[in-house]
Amino acid sequence: MPTHTQEIHAQEAHLKAARTTFPDGFSPENVKNLSIVLNALLADVFALYLKTKNFHWHMSGPHFRDYHLLLDDQATQIFAIGDDIAERVRKIGGTTVRSIGHIARLQRIADNDKEFVSAHDMLAELCADNRNLVQSLRAAHAVTSKAGDHATTSLIEVWIDEAERRAWFLFEATR
Ligand SMILES: [Fe+2]
Repeated sequence: MPTHTQEIHAQEAHLKAARTTFPDGFSPENVKNLSIVLNALLADVFALYLKTKNFHWHMSGPHFRDYHLLLDDQATQIFAIGDDIAERVRKIGGTTVRSIGHIARLQRIADNDKEFVSAHDMLAELCADNRNLVQSLRAAHAVTSKAGDHATTSLIEVWIDEAERRAWFLFEATR
């Protein structure tokens, strides 16, 4: 039979486990919803990062140097977003992506493992992917602002601008 003190300790431990990050933090419901939307974004960002690097590595044609360097700049920018997203999930009390397999289960941006992709098709595909990312970011923005997650909301606003800039460069380079 547990003593009264032991019971109180057990209850406290249970409450601590049920809590998110802080007593005045997000509700478990909000942590769940925010984690789902942010982890999907994180998977997309990793998929887009690797595809941008893939095309950076396999680029060919008369504009090789320009496109090779453009995609490297874009990949660096995309990679930086990933860490911020994952750490936002942890800060609000959620858990985030743990492996390549986990990313593969969540990603909505498709891989491209083709043996050869022309320079034009690479840029056009990345342009479409970045535009899709903008749509996902806008959808995530609606969730984070409704939950009162102001920090993530303001980061997302910057990521939308960056994705629109990448899409703009890619679009202009293909016409
Ligand atoms: Fe490189």
